[in-house]
Amino acid sequence: MATVLVTGGAGYIGSHTCVTLLEAGYEVAVLDSLANSSAAAIDAVAEIAGRRPRLDVADCRDEAAVEKVMAEVRPDAVLHFAGLKSVPESVADPLGYYRHNVGSTAVLLAVMESCGVRRIVFSSSATVYGLPDTLPVPETAPTRPANPYGSTKLVIEQMVADVVRADPRWSAALLRYFNPVGAHPSGLIGEDPEGVPGNLMPYLLQVAVGRRANLPLYGTDYPTPDGTALRDYIHVMDLAEGHLVALENLESSAGQVHTYNLGTGRAASVREVIAAMREATGHSLPYEELERRAGDVPELWADPTKARSELGWSASRTLAEMCRDAWAWQSAHPQGYRS
Ligand code: NAD
Ligand code: WQD
Repeated sequence: MATVLVTGGAGYIGSHTCVTLLEAGYEVAVLDSLANSSAAAIDAVAEIAGRRPRLDVADCRDEAAVEKVMAEVRPDAVLHFAGLKSVPESVADPLGYYRHNVGSTAVLLAVMESCGVRRIVFSSSATVYGLPDTLPVPETAPTRPANPYGSTKLVIEQMVADVVRADPRWSAALLRYFNPVGAHPSGLIGEDPEGVPGNLMPYLLQVAVGRRANLPLYGTDYPTPDGTALRDYIHVMDLAEGHLVALENLESSAGQVHTYNLGTGRAASVREVIAAMREATGHSLPYEELERRAGDVPELWADPTKARSELGWSASRTLAEMCRDAWAWQSAHPQGYRS
């Protein structure tokens, strides 16, 4: 049975991926600082999967701590979710974001090398594309991130690629997520942001449970059919399954770096998401129409053809399922893991 180390495994996407990995028969060890998550997520993962992942509370920037965990776990591969992900925070504190995201990954890669662990799946982001020239966006599209968060993702992609180039015993998958939403259908795990949610779906869910009065709808004058921005929302369980196939593909990928878009290839507008969430929750979900949010692109959706042809993976869950499952989580946990 193969063993994987999941950095950031207590977080939103990491916890869902842990469920998929455990159910596929992997031994799973989580290394997470719990800076943006709760150990309760690991309890819930254990409840769903019927097996408990090991949890080490440690920071990826702490080389001695990462070395200790790596030496004890002796994983066959690392899935690297740990990092900071707020666009506005990264604009306010770019150096902090480089130090954290790039610095922690440099530490992790060095420890992997010294322990002979040379397979990595990295959580990148569609934000590396910035404002696309054409849609849908293939992996070959130019990368020009429009904020420091996105730049850290691109720098890390390049760092990983350089490591693989220098030593063909390495292999890597760089997964560019579009807009992950939804939750495990059990409603036991889900997204639990600190403070005011920056993203559309968690904000809508907090309106639905009465934590916030109405949604600020940013931008109604985009050149799109209903005037609101278009995105490629992808169910987090489809995303988790994408990690599993990308991981399995690394076994036969020595010396290679694979970059994949993980999206559905379909776009939904903000108004369509509101309508789908109304349907799923039965709540009216009032919103206030505001100016565009600085830095938002009008439209972004994936060309997911490469992942389908090379990995046999494609996202199958609908927007209605994303909303249904997100609501199963939020309605059972109005205050997230503190509920
Ligand atoms: P999250 O904040 O829920 O999960 C990240 C986890 O990493 C948290 O549990 C946090 O405590 C932990 N962590 C942060 N810094 C750490 C460090 N230095 N050492 C150890 N643990 C640390 O975020 P998420 O939405 O699950 O995102 C996971 C990854 O996917 C991130 O790298 C993020 O940039 C990337 N990503 C997310 C999205 C999205 O919309 N959610 C989209 C594209 C890419
Ligand atoms: C979607 C649409 C908003 C909130 C972000 C990051 C990206 C990636 C995914 C990590 C936009 C509108 C939003 C609100 C709104 N993360 N909106 N009211 O901006 O596509 O991507 O998350 O890698 O890097 O930038 O997602 O959910 O924030 O916004 O009207 O309260 O919803 O303007 O059009 P985005 P989002």
